[in-house]
Amino acid sequence: MGYPRVRMRRNRRHPWTRRLVGEHRLGVDDLIWPVFVQEGTKARTEVPSMPGVARLSIDLLVQAAREASELGLPAIALFPVVDPEQKSPNGEEATSPDNLVCRAIRAVKEAKLDLGILCDVALDPFTDHGHDGVLHNGEVDNDATIAVLCQQACVQAAAGCDIVAPSDMMDGRVGAIREALDEKNFSSVSILAYAAKYASAFYGPFRDAIGAASNLGAGGKQSYQMDPANGDEALREIALDIAEGADMIMVKPGLPYLDIVRRAKDRFGMPTFAYQVSGEYAMLKAAAKAGALDWERTLLESLLCFKRAGADAILTYAAIEAARLLEKE
Ligand code: PBG
Repeated sequence: MGYPRVRMRRNRRHPWTRRLVGEHRLGVDDLIWPVFVQEGTKARTEVPSMPGVARLSIDLLVQAAREASELGLPAIALFPVVDPEQKSPNGEEATSPDNLVCRAIRAVKEAKLDLGILCDVALDPFTDHGHDGVLHNGEVDNDATIAVLCQQACVQAAAGCDIVAPSDMMDGRVGAIREALDEKNFSSVSILAYAAKYASAFYGPFRDAIGAASNLGAGGKQSYQMDPANGDEALREIALDIAEGADMIMVKPGLPYLDIVRRAKDRFGMPTFAYQVSGEYAMLKAAAKAGALDWERTLLESLLCFKRAGADAILTYAAIEAARLLEKE
């Protein structure tokens, strides 16, 4: 009698056995591409900390959106790089129907692609202090911020945004935004709640990209974003956002927080998204550049691991590259 009787390796022997027993598969349908939009025409500005990522003017964004759609990506997420003179303490520009992000939405929608558009609802691209809300006595004022976020969500919806994604972590904003959208007859606009968003140092390159890093200075967002030490609290946050009307929920950052993705998926069974954030992208790129990692393989592995953890979709700056690699497979 041979020993051991149970040989796990039998199922791993051939490519075909591995394909048969494979539990999860990454597909282009699972990816959302976050794109930075800037003013100008034919303007493309690299983000130094994120090799391969550039801020695009609206005309180039439309071309990129067409490419994304042709590759089969279901949706893109737009992030505006707002000119410093448009920024203010209360971020009023966020509520202007002609702000950069609204013009970008309209331009992409005019191209009539089968491509969803997702936009952040938060004030940090528009405030001169870099916080996600308005300040009162040096603190981010929850309820005053919500009033502005509701207006911001409505101008985005009016411009044609399909999914508004509050990423600000104010208490009660999902319910207030839902009510504001419904009141203005935007009941078909979805809400993706950045439900469990942590106060993470992995957002560094993003803040460089949108020009919020120096404004924020040493001040952190710990008074509204979650403590990385906490897991149970994430479930309470997510439960609240679902009760307030979120259509989908997100966990952010991604890889260091896969335990939260799994717990959220198991507990709520909601469409659950995860964000492979700027710092995660930068880490992989830097390691690949240094010759320490294989970029293509580590990228696809990391994205597959999101799926295994329970994510239905993943926001990644490498969505275009990943889609091309998946096409080849
Ligand atoms: C803004 C926002 C941030 C990210 C998405 N929306 C940064 C922050 O909260 O400071 C981070 C994305 C990334 O790092 O890729 N509310």
